[in-house]
Amino acid sequence: MSDLKKKYLKLIANAKDEADIESLRIQALGKKGEISLKMRELGKMKPDERKIAGPALNKMKDEISAAISAKKMALIDKAFDERLRAEWLDVTLPCRTVRHGSLHPVSQVREEVTAIFAEMGFSVAEGPQIETDWYNFDALNIPEHHSARAEMDTFYLKQFGQKNNPPRVLRTHTSPVQIRAMESFGAPLRVICPGRVYRADYDQTHTPMFHQVEGLALDVDISMANLKWVLEEFTKAYFEIEKIDLRFRASHFPFTEPSAEVDIRCSWEDGKLKLGEGDDWLEILGSGMVHPKVISAGGIDPDVYQGFAFGVGIDRIAMLKYGMPDLRAFFDSDLRWLRHYGFSYLDVPTLHGGLSRAV
Ligand code: PHE
Repeated sequence: MSDLKKKYLKLIANAKDEADIESLRIQALGKKGEISLKMRELGKMKPDERKIAGPALNKMKDEISAAISAKKMALIDKAFDERLRAEWLDVTLPCRTVRHGSLHPVSQVREEVTAIFAEMGFSVAEGPQIETDWYNFDALNIPEHHSARAEMDTFYLKQFGQKNNPPRVLRTHTSPVQIRAMESFGAPLRVICPGRVYRADYDQTHTPMFHQVEGLALDVDISMANLKWVLEEFTKAYFEIEKIDLRFRASHFPFTEPSAEVDIRCSWEDGKLKLGEGDDWLEILGSGMVHPKVISAGGIDPDVYQGFAFGVGIDRIAMLKYGMPDLRAFFDSDLRWLRHYGFSYLDVPTLHGGLSRAV
């Protein structure tokens, strides 16, 4: 009997795979298996013999059965290990560039701007594109009947504005996110807010939907000088030029006091725009010191905190940097345009890695 056990234990130990072990199981323990037949022989034995042979046979059957189960588990584990080894995937390998998709210039510029301001300690805040007129206007010191409301060619949502239902607009600028960021994070605060904005306007440089990025910095001692430095650093990094010249031109926005529009020195030689030199000036953004009423509306004490804000047109600075003449083409979904002006989604813009590597 112990020969039989030895034989099977050896066969089990040498089994190569699950199929092997299954056929061994049948050979030993199946209906007509060697062990099963032996069990049947017990019936023919004399009671005395059976008393000894019975338990011994049962014990052997259990041992062989246990050895089969253990080997089966070991083989399953081994097969799984082998599969894991064979099917591994190196996620750090660069993939083949798929030429079909590319990043839209607006997405690219948004990433570039975010990378630059992140380096200066600004985080990104967002707000809804459908705004109440309180966030879009009142909180920004633009009361009802203020001319600025009319100037912005606002889209109103007609299902709002009745009783108990404050008027809602498609936000006309990213400035309402100033208020939302102040409410959410308090002061001191350093955020940029990129996003879509809407105005009823349509020509070569205006589309009803376009993009802005808002900047806001609040602290106890922030001044116009900080604004100028931040904007200089930003324009140098963004346009990737060493020398720039910015001009602050007095202006008016209800939500900043004083307010300044910022121009960048440029030249137009042979119809080609060059930034940083020349005798022309190109307006690039609006800015100023945040009005105390706006700081209050954001729930912050304007006697303690002060700071600057600015708003830049993302599409506009994209056109300037990448030489795209017509804003309307940005939103036509023309594949030829997208292929020409698109960016590789694998080149993530960073200040050290380079901002703008075109496809
Ligand atoms: N919100 C202004 C606009 O859309 C830009 C701006 C933002 C000006 C912040 C000053 C401060 O024109």
